[in-house]
Amino acid sequence: MLGGPGTGKTILAAQFLYKGLSEYGENGVFVSLDESKNHFYPEMMKFGWDFKKAEDEGKFAFIDATRLSRVAILKEKMMREETSSLRGKQLQIDKLIEELQEKMQKIGAKRVVLDTLASLFYRFMDPIERRTAAVDVIESLSDLGATTIVTTELSYLGLERNLMDEEFLVHGVIMMQTLFSGGTTTRAMQVEKMRGAGVNPNLVPYTIDRNGLEIFPAMSVFRER
Ligand SMILES: Nc1ncnc2c1ncn2[C@@H]1O[C@H](COP(=O)(O)OP(=O)(O)OP(=O)(O)O)[C@@H](O)[C@H]1O
Ligand SMILES: [Mg+2]
Repeated sequence: MLGGPGTGKTILAAQFLYKGLSEYGENGVFVSLDESKNHFYPEMMKFGWDFKKAEDEGKFAFIDATRLSRVAILKEKMMREETSSLRGKQLQIDKLIEELQEKMQKIGAKRVVLDTLASLFYRFMDPIERRTAAVDVIESLSDLGATTIVTTELSYLGLERNLMDEEFLVHGVIMMQTLFSGGTTTRAMQVEKMRGAGVNPNLVPYTIDRNGLEIFPAMSVFRER
């Protein structure tokens, strides 16, 4: 899932997990690079999604990986050897995947979210190192046998953009964006790829309100004159 800041990536990912555990009996794990539990839980309660209760009932686990995020790195004025060497960076990611595997087994998780890949890869300056890390993480996630959503950031706005390496590795790509036209803004998403499934190829509008994210597949964002 790709999208610019504030497009609703975290909300949609959380909604996917909450629907899973509340309506489909599918437990879930949220791996957070950007927000701590203390921030995430009350924020999601605004939509009526009680992740604390789900956690207490053994249906949900939250992994706080904010120590690996860009904010944590920016805070560390001098990068220690552990975080600056390639080996060190890979080890930290391996540990995270291990922790995820443990939590998944413990609660029998069928759904996983990693929010965001961009924050996890922030430390890999070298494009080749970054690509290798991306292949590793996406492969290990697909080996876990759950349905996994990874979010990432889209810095290039507009309909034309460069494809990122990650997009070739995953089964599906959903792009979320905010369109500006005639003084109004419209939220819209598009399924760019979904292996093995016939999908609506159109740019489809969506809204965010106190119930979460709602998609309007029958509506077009391009108004006819
Ligand atoms: N109750 C609500 N009603 C309407 N809009 C809301 C509501 N709650 C949140 N939003 C909107 O949701 C967006 C934030 O969603 P979210 O945090 O999922 O975005 P994001 O793509 O993860 O952003 P970031 O890149 O900052 O992590 C904001 O643009 C905010 O305006
Ligand atoms: Mg977010």
